[in-house]
Amino acid sequence: MKENAIMSDEQNADREALFEPLQIRGMALPNRIVMSPMTRGFSPGGVPTDAVAAYYRRRAEGGAGLIVTEGVAVDHPAALGDAGLGENNIPLLGNAAAIEGWRKVVAGVHASGARIIPQLWHQGVMRKPGTGPYPDIPSVGPSGLWGPLGRMTSIEATSIPADPQIGDPMSEEQIEEAIAAFVRCAVNAVEAGFDGIALHGGHGYLLDNFLWEGTNQRDDRWGGSRAKRSEFPAEIVRRIRSAVGEDLPIFFRFSQWKQQDFRATLADNPEELREVLQPLADAGVDVFDASVRYYNRAAFEGDPACLAGVAKRVTGKLSMAVGGVGINQGMYDRDKAAAVVTDFGPLLERFRAGEFDLVAVGRAMIGDPNWAHKFRAGEATDPYRIENDGILS
Ligand SMILES: Cc1cc2nc3c(=O)[nH]c(=O)nc-3n(C[C@H](O)[C@H](O)[C@H](O)COP(=O)(O)O)c2cc1C
Repeated sequence: MKENAIMSDEQNADREALFEPLQIRGMALPNRIVMSPMTRGFSPGGVPTDAVAAYYRRRAEGGAGLIVTEGVAVDHPAALGDAGLGENNIPLLGNAAAIEGWRKVVAGVHASGARIIPQLWHQGVMRKPGTGPYPDIPSVGPSGLWGPLGRMTSIEATSIPADPQIGDPMSEEQIEEAIAAFVRCAVNAVEAGFDGIALHGGHGYLLDNFLWEGTNQRDDRWGGSRAKRSEFPAEIVRRIRSAVGEDLPIFFRFSQWKQQDFRATLADNPEELREVLQPLADAGVDVFDASVRYYNRAAFEGDPACLAGVAKRVTGKLSMAVGGVGINQGMYDRDKAAAVVTDFGPLLERFRAGEFDLVAVGRAMIGDPNWAHKFRAGEATDPYRIENDGILS
């Protein structure tokens, strides 16, 4: 039976709520469905090709209101390792050829009525040493720490360092160079025509390395308390804001979990989450993108709200939910076969309750570029297949 045959009028009306436009600073979104950032490795030499433009354009034509691109490495020598995808095919934004490549991607998405923002990415201590465009450069992190060993992790045993102290703590000069790299790429993003900026602040990468006590044990300006661990990403947000002006929205992705430690937390209750996020909100973040594997779970005991809901409540900013929309398997739960989920009741209920403003769809939108149109119409979507992706990040 086709799903629209069993959809109640109420569910239909609720779905339409996700197709209300939303204005965020100068960015007018036609609807609330977002393509979640997903690394691909199809940009030889870091330059997005016409095929990359076609890939994103298909999702825009398929009804997504906003596309957050795959992680784009910032213009810093230690930003990028090969991420398991072969050498040098993750996109950059630090040179004229890459900007030109992105300009075509942006134009295609705009022609389809959607908006697009690049996800700026620095791998920090997760960068695989000896790989990427500058293999001889050591990987960097706030305290030179990879993170505690022996935790539940997605990293292959052969890629886990024997000694978690992988280098020296970043110097003030190194910190400034990393900040400047983010700012340069944000300025280049404006030149390429992007509608805003997304920062990858989760999953155990550089910004998250500052946020997490497991990788940040500094006691200077950049560490020592939750608020101080937020200072490095907050400084990046402030500097980007002053470089790009007031019109561009800034999205910030954060996660409790790290690739180094799935059970890690930045905060164990809403008040602690406020301590983490408030400095970022004050610095100029417009949307918190709360990266969890299953959107439909309470973030904290005794509080039914999901992580995006708590982020919105404690900061007063907009938020975006993600994780398991339209798919029954969390992104690291490979033991179950992925199947299409057609019950959007919990999603619509949480949206209606005002927990979040945007819904990001990851793998389901790899599986079906027309996901957003079909969701709206209550039509069956094509399934995601694991062989369609090359990398988890
Ligand atoms: C192949 C693949 C690549 C990913 N790459 C990124 C990335 O570059 N940046 C990021 O923040 N998240 C990345 N993610 C996580 C997704 O953005 C999303 O949060 C996750 O897949 C959960 O959403 P889903 O259940 O709808 O797939 C990736 C996920 C997959 C499956």
